[in-house]
Amino acid sequence: MPKFFLVIQWILFWRALGSGACTVDTQSLHQLLSSDSIFGNSSTAPRWSDYGAPQPGAVIHPATEKDVQLTVRWAVKNEVPFFVQNGGNGWATTFTLGCDGIAIDLDLLRDVAFSDDRKLVTVGGGALISNVTAAGSRNGALVATGTCDCVGMQGAVLGGGIGYLTGEYGLGVDNVVSMNVVLADGSAEIVTWKSSPDLFWALRGAGPNFGIVTSAVFKSHPIGSSNLGTAWTGALVYTPAQLDSVLRVISNLTLTPPMSLSMTWALGDTGQPSIIVSVFYHGTEDAGRAAFASILGIGPVADGTGIVPYNMWNAGSASACAKGGRKPTWGVGMSRLDPASWHAVYDVWAELVGHAGFEHSSVLLNVNPMDTARELPVFSSSFPFRHTVSHFASITALYTDPTLDAMALSYGQKARELWQSADGLVHHSTYINNALGDEDLTTVYGISLLRLRALKKRYDPQCQFGQWFPLPCENVP
Ligand SMILES: *[C@@H]1O[C@H](CO)[C@@H](O)[C@H](O)[C@H]1NC(C)=O
Ligand SMILES: *[C@@H]1O[C@H](CO)[C@@H](O)[C@H](O)[C@H]1NC(C)=O
Ligand SMILES: *[C@@H]1O[C@H](CO)[C@@H](O)[C@H](O)[C@H]1NC(C)=O
Repeated sequence: MPKFFLVIQWILFWRALGSGACTVDTQSLHQLLSSDSIFGNSSTAPRWSDYGAPQPGAVIHPATEKDVQLTVRWAVKNEVPFFVQNGGNGWATTFTLGCDGIAIDLDLLRDVAFSDDRKLVTVGGGALISNVTAAGSRNGALVATGTCDCVGMQGAVLGGGIGYLTGEYGLGVDNVVSMNVVLADGSAEIVTWKSSPDLFWALRGAGPNFGIVTSAVFKSHPIGSSNLGTAWTGALVYTPAQLDSVLRVISNLTLTPPMSLSMTWALGDTGQPSIIVSVFYHGTEDAGRAAFASILGIGPVADGTGIVPYNMWNAGSASACAKGGRKPTWGVGMSRLDPASWHAVYDVWAELVGHAGFEHSSVLLNVNPMDTARELPVFSSSFPFRHTVSHFASITALYTDPTLDAMALSYGQKARELWQSADGLVHHSTYINNALGDEDLTTVYGISLLRLRALKKRYDPQCQFGQWFPLPCENVP
């Protein structure tokens, strides 16, 4: 028999042995949960990126908050490590969970319900951003969400919550009114600023370290004559020859509250690099075109802007939602855009996508007006960067072959170093939802780190919630 087939046989043998030997026996949990709960496996809880992803031995889909409590108590009692997901997008490499652990997937908790006056909305722990914007459109109200439909609403907000409405309504964490939370001992608490100021502070910025949010109440903003349910938004496409003009204009652009801007670098269908600037203006087309006159003045080769209803604002990012593949992402927070370092990053990216297997790798910049967020003091939540960071950059190496990991790493790190070298900050800062996982804790928790560490020891001393940028606990020196 050729050597090749022997090798394949050995691989199949070990894989069979591996998957057979390592699952979590959830029989005793079956009997505890309500009959609508579902017991699945990793195929029922797919993740956006397989790079550094957790490898749970079983997946539980609890049907009620009570089921979440029972699952946590069961896992703690049986010493089964667990982590929680809603959208499954978190790409950090901080997961240590293997096949002796379980995933708690909240996808059965996706209800979104508005109050009669439409000024409050209750969002289930597993709701996706698309669930929130769809319900908002139906009910005539806007909610501050992130800009990707497939991302879990609570996941996006518990890290900070940056999106198109940041300029007008502040960060996602600023719009939280209360949270139903299952804590490390399996108890359930309604956490508000009044009932539990410490937890309310910690959850809004470092949530996954402290509990499982099974639902949360957010402020919502009724659509009316002074609050349109539409925006002027869409993609302006530029050529690489226009890159320096685009960078110069963005670096000199001051965004007012109705504005938001993102820039993506990606290869087009013909393999040509495109500079795509997505403009967003919560208002009329005329006002939007005037606000973005400097960008339009460069002369985009394509203009895909138009008046778009609330539930379609995130349509431009839909293609980035596909699950699976390897997508390590290096993120950097910045106070400004430095054209020279961005040009250097462009060269790094252009070289990366020139390698076979990396063609779909991309660079993303999000810029938001932070004035409204900055009306609140830095200590109003554990999100630490509202007064310093306004530009959020990331590079995603997208490929499938694990043997390309080392090459992806070298390009990602190079881009990150270039951005950080001109980030305009006293301390490097990375939005936790954009970070890779190899950053030190000060880079993701900033000025909040000390108080977070103290609260971690109080609320989760055994480190049950230890998969997402884990804060140190008593047992872990
Ligand atoms: C997950 O469960 C399904 C249905 O029970 C099964 O067909 C599939 O092979 C399992 N997948 C894994 C990765 O274990
Ligand atoms: C939430 O959105 C997903 C994806 O679009 C959809 O499949 C699901 O039915 C929605 N759930 C609810 C409760 O609206
Ligand atoms: C920067 O913007 C200001 C007004 O916003 C304008 O007067 C100035 O010419 C711009 N500078 C450059 C280099 O584009």
